[in-house]
Amino acid sequence: MVTNLPVHPSSGNESDGYWMHYHDQDSEKLADAVIEYALDRIRLDPPPLDGPKTLSQLQQLVGNTITPEGLGGLRALEIFTTQLSRACISVDHPSFLSFVPGAPTESAVLFDLVLSASNIYAGSWLESSGAVYAENQALQWVASLANFPTTSRGVFVSGGTAGNLSALIAARWRWRQNGQGKFDAVRPLIVTSSGSHSSVGLAVNAMDADVVKVVADKQGRMSGVNLRAAIANLSDQDRKRISAIVATSGTTNLGVIDDLVAAGDQARELGTWFHIDGAYGAAALCAPSVRHLFVGIEMADSFIVDPHKWLFGPFDCCALIYRDPDTARRAHTQRAEYLEVLQQQDLGDSLANPADMAHHLSRRARGLPFWFSVATHGTEAYEEAMEITLQVTREAAQIIKNMSFLELLLEPELSIIVFRRNGWTPQQYQQWSDKMLNEGRAFVVPTTWNGETVLRFCIINPRTTIEEVSDIINSLE
Ligand SMILES: Cc1ncc(COP(=O)(O)O)c(C=O)c1O
Repeated sequence: MVTNLPVHPSSGNESDGYWMHYHDQDSEKLADAVIEYALDRIRLDPPPLDGPKTLSQLQQLVGNTITPEGLGGLRALEIFTTQLSRACISVDHPSFLSFVPGAPTESAVLFDLVLSASNIYAGSWLESSGAVYAENQALQWVASLANFPTTSRGVFVSGGTAGNLSALIAARWRWRQNGQGKFDAVRPLIVTSSGSHSSVGLAVNAMDADVVKVVADKQGRMSGVNLRAAIANLSDQDRKRISAIVATSGTTNLGVIDDLVAAGDQARELGTWFHIDGAYGAAALCAPSVRHLFVGIEMADSFIVDPHKWLFGPFDCCALIYRDPDTARRAHTQRAEYLEVLQQQDLGDSLANPADMAHHLSRRARGLPFWFSVATHGTEAYEEAMEITLQVTREAAQIIKNMSFLELLLEPELSIIVFRRNGWTPQQYQQWSDKMLNEGRAFVVPTTWNGETVLRFCIINPRTTIEEVSDIINSLE
């Protein structure tokens, strides 16, 4: 038993008064139960796929859990382990191929427990220099994959949505700054592709900006030709309003990479910010077999990649990297009397406090589970894991091509496969998807492309085998 925990000053009897922050035999038992469950869950191979329940089912199974007296930790834990967790689909199940799954390493999840236990405030170098130092090393590795200069810096934010917004706020700041007052009351204009993620549109709305959506080509990419044409079609006045060009390196629906060199060239020509949304795809920068597809990323002013997607970290974690951290700092630093002290500190090698690099203030050191995993296993293990997922994707695409009842719609560039089940209606796709989930076999939801309902696999879990994927494919006959 750990001996230096805060023990209640009276005796050990809850009826003696306030108890919640003190340690006793009950909390000791609870600690054992929590750790035992956490370790069991981490090591389930595979975890049950599970599935959603309706509100009325949950009301019946769980009922109300918030009471004046409390349920007690063991009972609350039991409710979670037996009911609530079973109503959450396991994103790390090898046959979870919907959306963008997650597949954290065991070491990353174990360290997430350590991080929670440590409750580090990681907004400032003053309060968390050790954590920020390690996060920065992980960020430097990510930046180096994109051939960013060693002077680039970044921060871990909650996800791609937060990363895109923060980068675009920094871009707007620089555009207005360069405008020397001319654009202070002008709406910014963001140029992106019709294939870009919905979070770019959300950022546009949040910033009260305008957007030009370049029509993606037949393969779903933003081509140089279409981008140039879209910009050429703008009036001189609108061209001056462009605060950023946003390209995607790994679109969510199709997994394709925009013409990054053309986008970078256009941004340079216009003197505007170039942001790359690599939330899903830029993880593959560490895979030698596809590294060449990212040429042009080194031209960006900022890019993001989510370790909680294809870099094997737990939720929620997005690496946001800036070429010029000073712009980010000036765009995002919150000023308040009680915070001024943070600006007067030695900032180590950060150049800015993590809180100053994005649209946030308080933050957990969410990059640390990712850091711990990379520090533990080394970068070569990441290369290897990435290549495994790419290889399974290529083999699965080949199997689909060989099936007479299926049609591969696009040769996969990264790890997303989009294909048609010949003759199926949208209802049939949905029925098949529901059945696979109900049977605990797989979670694959339909998507649409060019207005047609089709199927999509996103393979980012190195434990997803070609046998499992074949099984799913065969069930479509
Ligand atoms: C390309 C891309 N950008 C942004 C996002 C949003 O990321 P998040 O869900 O972490 O906010 C996603 C999510 O799938 C994505 O694929």
